Amino acid sequence: MGIEDLALQEPLLDGSRQMRAIQAVVASVADTDATVLIRGESGVGKDVVARTIHAASSRRDRQFVKVNCAAIPPGLLESELFGHERGAFTGAHRRKLGQFEMANRGTIYLDEVGELPPALQAKLLHVLQDLRFCRVGGYGLVDVDVRVISATNGNLEAAMARGQFRQDLYYRLNVVEILVPPLRERSEEIPLLASALLARFNRQYGRTKELSPETAARLTAYSWPGNVRELENVMRRLVVLPDGEQAFETLVAHDRNGHAWAAHAPAHNLKHVARRAAGEAERRAIVEVLERVGWNRTEAARILKVSYKTLLNKIAELRLAPPPTARAH
Ligand SMILES: Nc1ncnc2c1ncn2[C@@H]1O[C@H](COP(=O)(O)OP(=O)(O)OP(=O)(O)O)[C@@H](O)[C@H]1O
Ligand SMILES: [Mg+2]
Repeated sequence: MGIEDLALQEPLLDGSRQMRAIQAVVASVADTDATVLIRGESGVGKDVVARTIHAASSRRDRQFVKVNCAAIPPGLLESELFGHERGAFTGAHRRKLGQFEMANRGTIYLDEVGELPPALQAKLLHVLQDLRFCRVGGYGLVDVDVRVISATNGNLEAAMARGQFRQDLYYRLNVVEILVPPLRERSEEIPLLASALLARFNRQYGRTKELSPETAARLTAYSWPGNVRELENVMRRLVVLPDGEQAFETLVAHDRNGHAWAAHAPAHNLKHVARRAAGEAERRAIVEVLERVGWNRTEAARILKVSYKTLLNKIAELRLAPPPTARAH
């Protein structure tokens, strides 16, 4: 993490009514050891909230360890989380500490917790109950003192209804739930976030870019399907690219869920037509595969030959949701 990234970790969590409410919850739970489940679309700032809880707790001088449960192959996840003893499996040449031990007296942040395989869900449940566990291939129990924060942008209730997520674990993780709303529902924050990001990228790239009032107004009106992450990318492009404003106009013109002025998009500009058609084809392919595999996103990512993360981003970007039947309890 570079210095500029650290600068961003100064939490900007008070720009809207919703974020002030979240800040209040963060302040009241930080110093308890309550497990917190953070929910919200991709890019809304779940990691930022998790780090803020850690930074506000008395564990702040200890490690904050993030584990992305979706990014680690299921076969390696147990050893990643809980470590292994020498000789536990082929290639285990020496003892390795897992992330739970690394996070001892600190905080462990389990991102995409809905992707934990069933066997590990059971193990995690026991660890939460007993604060002790076995390393893979080990006999002795290791005690840990960790605060667990988890996050998901998926529908854990649906996963539970399908029998893919344990109910007892769900209740253990979900002692305090923080729902981070999409940026479009807290657009009063956009000017603050945009100017902080503008200042940061100007500093980072040695520029002195300013926003025209028109662009500033459009930033606030745009629907931001990719949330704060998308705003960050747009601000970076605005600072770095000579035609950054033009690129943003194009984006806005394609904002399906945007506002009236988006309707003035140049409908016959060939480049736009081609991009829209490609976007539609992509959307159709994704929906078709998801439906075929009953919204098993790991399987869908494999068929579509994209990473799981990319698929999740696409799902969020296209605002796809499982059919109501898959969501029913
Ligand atoms: N309130 C905020 N202030 C400053 N930067 C923010 C804020 N919220 C989000 N960001 C930035 O936006 C980006 C996305 O945020 P973050 O990684 O926390 O989202 P997320 O909800 O965890 O997304 P995903 O579900 O994809 O993991 C990050 O670069 C983060 O630093
Ligand atoms: Mg995240």
